[in-house]
Amino acid sequence: MFKRSFMRAVLTGALVALLGLAGYWIYQRSRPPEPQAVPEYDPATLAGQRPDLDVPFVSTEYDIVRAMLDLAGTTADDVVVDLGSGDGRIPIIAARDKGARGLGVDLDPARIRESTANALRAGVGDRVTFRQQDLFVTPLGDATVLTLYLLPEINMQLRPRILGEMRPGARVVSNTFDMGDWQPDARRNVQNSNIFLWIVPARVEGRWQLRTGEGEARLTLRQQFQQVSGTIEANGRSTPLRDVQLRGPQIAFAADLGGGSRRFVGRVDGAAMAGEGWQAARIGN
Ligand SMILES: C[S@@+](CC[C@H](N)C(=O)[O-])C[C@H]1O[C@@H](n2cnc3c(N)ncnc32)[C@H](O)[C@@H]1O
Repeated sequence: MFKRSFMRAVLTGALVALLGLAGYWIYQRSRPPEPQAVPEYDPATLAGQRPDLDVPFVSTEYDIVRAMLDLAGTTADDVVVDLGSGDGRIPIIAARDKGARGLGVDLDPARIRESTANALRAGVGDRVTFRQQDLFVTPLGDATVLTLYLLPEINMQLRPRILGEMRPGARVVSNTFDMGDWQPDARRNVQNSNIFLWIVPARVEGRWQLRTGEGEARLTLRQQFQQVSGTIEANGRSTPLRDVQLRGPQIAFAADLGGGSRRFVGRVDGAAMAGEGWQAARIGN
């Protein structure tokens, strides 16, 4: 009697254990999968063409965008180019608020789609263009205002191209990051962020033949970005130039031509410079 009830208890226990295991197995199979990490880019970007970005996407705050465009003195005559344009806000605000034309380039096609839609929504689709392109191959020659929110080493990589390709007088504004030993022409602090302005200087380094109503002289100019110094040789005498200023293509200096000091104010145009009553031609580097 005892033996039979013992066996029944053992069998019932085994059945309960078996049912429990089966239930657990069914539960595991039917459970939804653990949530996966959310993709950083939209699915279209992930579909075989995720770009290898040099800088992550972080937007410039709207107040800082406005301050950057103001610092550059942006007007309706400008072509504003934003390298790594994110959601397109800088060219779009330049077009909407300043009447400028704008170009944004970004490596990420999702950003380009987003920017194009944003431009249409802002009513500036006819004045702003967005292009999927690597900023390292984007031509800079047409930009009169170049905007950057990149990284210090990328600014440094762009620096020779800015100085070589952009026209003298064009402006460059950068959010947060500077350009090494190229001192900015102006800087502001907006919402705890530094913004920097550089004005592309004309290339004046070298030797120049100067002609005035009073005679001829030779100028030798040394240049470090917008900082210029030099000497003038007239009547067999060499004297340093004083108070030399270079802002874009505009140059000014004081020089002694023999008959006393004179102030020269003029404009550089490639291998020539000229002002009222004087002109100079490049004769060597
Ligand atoms: C810090 S965000 C700046 C966005 C925008 N300029 C702003 O200030 O709001 C940098 C942008 O550069 C883009 N980017 C990164 N590497 C790039 C490259 N090599 N060429 C073009 N765009 C790039 C990123 O996709 C991102 O949208």
